[in-house]
Amino acid sequence: MELGAAPARALDQRTTRELTTTARTLLTDHDHEHAHEHDDPAAHRELLSAVRRAAPALSDRTHHACRPVDTRDGLYVLKGLPVDDTALGPTPGHWSAAGAAGALHDVVLLLLSALMGAPLAWEGQQDGRFVHNIVPSPGHERAQTGASSATLLSPHTEDAFHPDRAHLLVLGCLRNHDRVATTAASVRRARLADADVELLSRPLLPILPDAAYTGARAHAGEPPAVATLWRTADGPRLRYDPAYTPLHRAAPAHRAAYRRLADELARVSVAVPLAPGDVLVLDNDLVVHGRVPFRARYDGTDRWLKRTSVRVPGRRTRPAAERHEHGYGQRTVEALA
Ligand SMILES: [Fe+2]
Repeated sequence: MELGAAPARALDQRTTRELTTTARTLLTDHDHEHAHEHDDPAAHRELLSAVRRAAPALSDRTHHACRPVDTRDGLYVLKGLPVDDTALGPTPGHWSAAGAAGALHDVVLLLLSALMGAPLAWEGQQDGRFVHNIVPSPGHERAQTGASSATLLSPHTEDAFHPDRAHLLVLGCLRNHDRVATTAASVRRARLADADVELLSRPLLPILPDAAYTGARAHAGEPPAVATLWRTADGPRLRYDPAYTPLHRAAPAHRAAYRRLADELARVSVAVPLAPGDVLVLDNDLVVHGRVPFRARYDGTDRWLKRTSVRVPGRRTRPAAERHEHGYGQRTVEALA
């Protein structure tokens, strides 16, 4: 696996100062009106609405830094945001224990996300928050979710089970003393035979909801079969989550094609060890992401990422059939500007 090959966009000091100052003002105003309501989804929505109203007034330089993903592979890393490790406090042991920890970084990430599109939340994940905390949690070491550590988090499309999944995935790093690598593999680099693309474009297997969603797995609807790959004028796109795809149900030829795709994604995968202040932006239709295994200490110094999901208004690059999927009863929430 290549190391650190993700293209970088450096934020200059003027840009980071503007983002931090704007975030601090928004947070102060919000806290003034909603003291002690950090766990109230309605309060989160109001804060996000304020963020969406503030974002257009940011400088051209900041807008430029958040321009659409224009790299061949469909990803980049924004660099240069300040993170004060001491002021941050200990890494929480579970997302639900995060409270308002790192709230300023939440708002900075939301400002960046609001410049890229419309940040979205899930009613059924992390209490409907717009910014998720990704921290290793005791008892989840071997899960295929962001709370894991000891196991390889296999490459996947974020929220692949759902037709309203993000177009862009944004991962902001607050702490990563051990330089644990996030992995990213672009379908644009994968060498795929036409016959495999054709076969994997047929909707033959479902992608089941992942373990982070409360309630989704109890949904009574028949899991819809979905395409793994599809062609667009601009090359192939993918929707891929092997850990939640019942591959054993597929015919041998389909299974073999899926495995060749998996091998290719492993071959082109790059390791991106995010440093504090780095913000990794991935096109969720082009790039699958994962994480290498690591040993969690649970002593307040573990790796800590913040995550947002972004919908890009007007993007029409997904198979039309997706619109009829039930999404296992899971719904996204978007805050109005
Ligand atoms: Fe993920």
